Amino acid sequence: MDPLALLWLLFTACGLDRARAVNPFAVQQSPPDPCYDEKGAPRRCIPEFVNAAFGKEVHASSTCGKPPTRHCDASDPRKAHPASYLTDLNNVANMTCWRSETLHHSPQNVTITLSLGKKFEVIYVSLQFCSPRPESAAVFKSMDYGKTWVPYQYYSSQCRKIYGKSNKAAVTKQNEQEALCTDGHTDLYPLTGGLIAFSTLEGRPSGQDFDNSPVLQDWVTATDIRVIFSRPHLFRELGGRDHEDEEGGMSSSSSYYYAVGEFQVGGRCKCNGHASRCVKDKEGKLVCDCKHNTEGPECDRCKPFHYDRPWQRATAREANECLACNCNLHARRCRFNMELYKLSGRTSGGVCLNCRHNTAGRHCHYCKEGFYRDMSKSITDRKACKACDCHPVGAAGKTCNQTTGQCPCKDGVTGLTCNRCAKGYQQSRSPVAPCIKIPAINPTSVVTSTEEPA
Ligand SMILES: *[C@@H]1O[C@H](CO)[C@@H](O)[C@H](O)[C@H]1NC(C)=O
Ligand SMILES: *[C@@H]1O[C@H](CO)[C@@H](O)[C@H](O)[C@H]1NC(C)=O
Ligand SMILES: *[C@@H]1O[C@H](CO)[C@@H](O)[C@H](O)[C@H]1NC(C)=O
Repeated sequence: MDPLALLWLLFTACGLDRARAVNPFAVQQSPPDPCYDEKGAPRRCIPEFVNAAFGKEVHASSTCGKPPTRHCDASDPRKAHPASYLTDLNNVANMTCWRSETLHHSPQNVTITLSLGKKFEVIYVSLQFCSPRPESAAVFKSMDYGKTWVPYQYYSSQCRKIYGKSNKAAVTKQNEQEALCTDGHTDLYPLTGGLIAFSTLEGRPSGQDFDNSPVLQDWVTATDIRVIFSRPHLFRELGGRDHEDEEGGMSSSSSYYYAVGEFQVGGRCKCNGHASRCVKDKEGKLVCDCKHNTEGPECDRCKPFHYDRPWQRATAREANECLACNCNLHARRCRFNMELYKLSGRTSGGVCLNCRHNTAGRHCHYCKEGFYRDMSKSITDRKACKACDCHPVGAAGKTCNQTTGQCPCKDGVTGLTCNRCAKGYQQSRSPVAPCIKIPAINPTSVVTSTEEPA
């Protein structure tokens, strides 16, 4: 069986993608957008499973051919073995191999580093050798574009001696990000075509519950993969017999090289369940094609104005899409407030910023001071709030009742804006008491002033 097919089965068995695992050969109908169901409701979506290494840039610390030797010549296509051969099209009939310089005597580290260009969720890393496999090798990953490295797996027939690790350790729920050392994959034979294959989730207890395991989600995340070949199988260990392989070059018992034909990284572009594909942006960088109101290279944050609840990764059950703040069309910006979110029973935490159209409040849902609600208009209307226009002399303040629009009137003053003297009052010249009681000398001479107080 193709080893990669095996890994694929392993991977689908891990519950990452059950829907597809049911029938991986089902004809893909092309729905308008896999991130939404037929009714338009958001649902988890993920980019397809690919060999993320294909066509990507690889750097090797050692490559033969400069200067040219009998078997390597960087300027001769028939004898060139550049690192780019590690990730080119894998043609079984014509396997192209990267090859290190021929190294002598003591073991030297040879490093190959692959840059994926963005975060991927890596399910396996595999190397197919054109030389004998190394006796000791280590696989590392970086999550920060090569600034720091974390070990994924060690391979050695002498785990303790070379890497200070037991070859019997096991992963438990407590150490799911532990790199193990194995003496598998380190046999000298086959002399060519041997494989090193590391499956990131195999044997990790939470692999069955990947959706709910931030630890493993983190563990599979990588921007770069590095493999360090630390020790060769020195042929003299086979009994001092000098050996010459088909290509020659290993004529001395203590000289060796590493050669790899295929470097694969099986996984998915990491989009946290909010994109079904990755695309090149304007600068040629690979980014997720984010849906569900998310943005960022990994759809790792909410789009502006979609801060009503905290960002979350999508799960098989919940799309966890980002929700727009409710600002009744009066604000373009909002922020998230954790206290309000908790108080609301974890449903809404958005707070509108800079409410316009004279509105105020968390959702721009009432009128700001000095304005009142015009009930003939909807709250989303630009004219939902009317100015109080309280009379500068007749009113005791500038703020009216926000539902009725009634200004606070001084004694003896009336009207919505306090612009008239009440019944039994008449205008005076005093701005302190603009309407005074009409003296009750003649009970028949009561008149109501409708004039504006001066
Ligand atoms: C094998 O592949 C190399 C690199 O792609 C190419 O230059 C060469 O012509 C191929 N040889 C054969 C026999 O197809
Ligand atoms: C060689 O690589 C191993 C990791 O595989 C590392 O621990 C060691 O320090 C390296 N040695 C040198 C000389 O760089
Ligand atoms: C505004 O007017 C309404 C109706 O008369 C009244 O119920 C409410 O208490 C008033 N609000 C204020 C703040 O005075």
